Amino acid sequence: MTDVGHIPVLLDEVLAHLRPEPGSVVLDLTLGRGGHALTLGTAAMPGGHVIGVDADPGNAEFARKRLSDSNLPCTIRHENFARVGEVMRELDMQADVVLADLGVASVHLDQAERGFSMMADGPLDMRLDPTGPTTAADVLNTMPEADLAHLIRTVGEEPLGRQIAAKIALQRQQGPMTTTEHLRSLVLDVYGPRARDSRRHPATRTFMALRIAVNDELAALDTLLARIRQAAHGGQWLAPKARVGIISFHSLEDRPVKRCFAELAADGLGHVSQRSGFVPSDEEIDRNGRARSARLRILELA
Ligand SMILES: C[S@@+](CC[C@H](N)C(=O)[O-])C[C@H]1O[C@@H](n2cnc3c(N)ncnc32)[C@H](O)[C@@H]1O
Repeated sequence: MTDVGHIPVLLDEVLAHLRPEPGSVVLDLTLGRGGHALTLGTAAMPGGHVIGVDADPGNAEFARKRLSDSNLPCTIRHENFARVGEVMRELDMQADVVLADLGVASVHLDQAERGFSMMADGPLDMRLDPTGPTTAADVLNTMPEADLAHLIRTVGEEPLGRQIAAKIALQRQQGPMTTTEHLRSLVLDVYGPRARDSRRHPATRTFMALRIAVNDELAALDTLLARIRQAAHGGQWLAPKARVGIISFHSLEDRPVKRCFAELAADGLGHVSQRSGFVPSDEEIDRNGRARSARLRILELA
């Protein structure tokens, strides 16, 4: 991690394929700590403008300051990117370059009090937007066992999802689960000696599944893709020949992105750069382990 709290992944590829030109409007839908936005926005100068959106008001504010300190004209919104249509309508602007870099920033994992990390004890929160309605504790303590098992198995791709859900259901009969340490040790119990064979921490997949559920991340992505489809068909917030990049970290995110871009290309509305997308080099993965599962897909509107 850097002092800004996040290393932007696939930065060279993002810049090379989104290619902002001087005067471009750059729309970063997952502003995070502003790393991608700073690079894209700088390439859009002179005359460009950065619009930044983030569900986390702390990240939005951090990035706003970072961009302003670099004298980049910017408009920052604390919003979910599912509301991109409304945001762009309110601003009455069209984007030439759009980026969504899904998931959490490293800084989320480093703040124990946000509850994303299994490496430090904290409350079971996991909300990207601290004003959001549902915490990880709510999900763990109220979701029916079968749904919990489905979530951990399918979204988390955790082979022991059913056993973990059963243990959670048993545990919560004694009282609500409230801490990340509690969940982490419960998963370790389920794994038992199998934990030794696990390449990643055994609780990684369970934590990820919960985070995706708490923030309704797959539904937000579906809505974003629907807005991109609409805009590609009828102008609205995407400028002619706009370039859209989405970086995903999970096959359940990558699959709908791939499908959406391929459909738009098949309808003659755009062109997909490199059909398999772009993945990080070994050198980038060595430098930033978080990049390991990243895949960037690019759509250029016709
Ligand atoms: C991987 S980080 C982005 C890092 C950023 N590209 C950078 O260079 O610093 C993802 C960011 O997207 C935000 N985010 C995730 N889902 C979101 C959504 N549906 N709407 C808005 N922001 C979202 C998170 O709060 C987080 O700050």
